[in-house]
Amino acid sequence: MKIDSFDDIKLDPAQYSRAKQYFLEYYQGPFIYGQGVEELLKILECYGTKGSWLDLGSGPSTLLWSIPLSGITSITCSDKHPEMLLILRNFVCSRKIPKCYKDVLEICSRNVDHLADMRKKFSSYYEIDALRPWHGHALSESFDLVTEFGCFGISPSAEAFIDCVGYVKPAITPGGRFIGANWVRSNHYVSLYGGKNSYLCTELIVSAAEIHDMELLHAEMIPVKGDPYYDAVIVWVLNKKRI
Ligand SMILES: C[S@@+](CC[C@H](N)C(=O)[O-])C[C@H]1O[C@@H](n2cnc3c(N)ncnc32)[C@H](O)[C@@H]1O
Repeated sequence: MKIDSFDDIKLDPAQYSRAKQYFLEYYQGPFIYGQGVEELLKILECYGTKGSWLDLGSGPSTLLWSIPLSGITSITCSDKHPEMLLILRNFVCSRKIPKCYKDVLEICSRNVDHLADMRKKFSSYYEIDALRPWHGHALSESFDLVTEFGCFGISPSAEAFIDCVGYVKPAITPGGRFIGANWVRSNHYVSLYGGKNSYLCTELIVSAAEIHDMELLHAEMIPVKGDPYYDAVIVWVLNKKRI
């Protein structure tokens, strides 16, 4: 569902406070090396296409991932939780540049004008549950670039993850790209919160590409250092074939 006005959305206060906590906890302070993010930035720079972009499970972070991209004409954000989207919208509409964003601008050899330009490209916000079929009802357009960072790994199984890729396929224009990154939860995380996702591996991405007849351009497992909650992150790129 498209959010035309956040004033019309009934927000859940508990969810809003979780979203705010996520926003304040991630990508605000100095950039942390060794967590797989520098590799993901490189992948976005190399494989990100120009044109329209849809970010699934965007949380409040889409602006960060826009830094390495070039030629983006419009940015559509989506999340299951509108509270996340409200925080993102308010951040995008501000002029704030957190330390992490300054560091990523430097890592990607970009300047603040690029960030200001990206802020202007945010065009719409959608409430989308990306773990269920959604294209054709929650949203019907297609995009040159679709991304999901930290969203499909919430799936309970490898099969459910592969299904999510199928839900996205009609939302990608032929020749368009789908780029994902999924963090593998550590035993410590699982003992506290559950949600084991050790099914995440490069073979899973190979299978998803085969099953959905997409071209696999990249799949790489990167160890995460010094984070008790995550062991690794898998970064991958699929291309939707032109028929
Ligand atoms: C780990 S956060 C990642 C946020 C952001 N993509 C980033 O890179 O920081 C996971 C995000 O997925 C969203 N989410 C959880 N379940 C979802 C679902 N079924 N469909 C879409 N988004 C979902 C959460 O609200 C949250 O914003």
